[in-house]
Amino acid sequence: MAVTGGILVLYLIAHMVGNLKIFLGAEDFNHYAHWLRTIGEPAVPRRTVLTLIEVVLGVSVVLHMWSAVSLARRASAARPVKYQSKKKSHAQGYAVRTMRYGGVIIAVYVVWHLLDLTFFVVNPKGSDATPYERMVADFDPSRWYITVWYVLAVALVGLHLHHGIWSAFQTLGLRNPRRDRALRGLAATVAALVTLGFVSVPLSITFGWVS
Ligand code: HEM
Repeated sequence: MAVTGGILVLYLIAHMVGNLKIFLGAEDFNHYAHWLRTIGEPAVPRRTVLTLIEVVLGVSVVLHMWSAVSLARRASAARPVKYQSKKKSHAQGYAVRTMRYGGVIIAVYVVWHLLDLTFFVVNPKGSDATPYERMVADFDPSRWYITVWYVLAVALVGLHLHHGIWSAFQTLGLRNPRRDRALRGLAATVAALVTLGFVSVPLSITFGWVS
């Protein structure tokens, strides 16, 4: 869980920083999208590095979900006799719900997002446009509901990251009473920065600050 989660967090940070290039204008953003496909050229053919990244991401997502299911199964098998009281601590119930149902909604969002900005099936501009044009058309004020969908999904990603990073610190044995405050702060800061960086793009387009 922690290793695949770590890979996905690094990807999310890189992806969020890349998206911020939209604020530098159409030329810079399109140049960045082109660069993603030509990294390593001419030493390696076009899209080699991007394909490698896609394979690592795909495998990480599958293993991450598989670990989640098998850990949950192991936890319930370890306690065949149910707790007498159904009452859970607030934090426990909240974390389980956010991670479990949030994770499923994030997976649905990623499928939509790929159909939108990678395969252009649900994008208003389609494959003839530039990456910048597709992004601006996607979050046009008339399509405010798409912006709301992205913002809500990214907020869930933020919650998932917050709890996930915190759990990873525990798994990696980094937690102790002296460090806990700092580690909690680090998890919250990374999650907040990734969330704000991501949502700033659709919101800026919908509010007309980027066009
Ligand atoms: C407001 C938020 C987001 C925006 C505006 C956005 C935008 C984009 C764009 C423009 C692409 C196409 C890049 C290209 O091929 O040139 C892309 C690809 C992708 N995004 Fe996002 N993204 C956002 C959030 C997310 C989140 C939260 C996730 C994961 C949970 C995610 C996962 C992906 C994946 C897996 C790809 C495919 C990468 C590839 O081509 O292999 N994105 N995104």
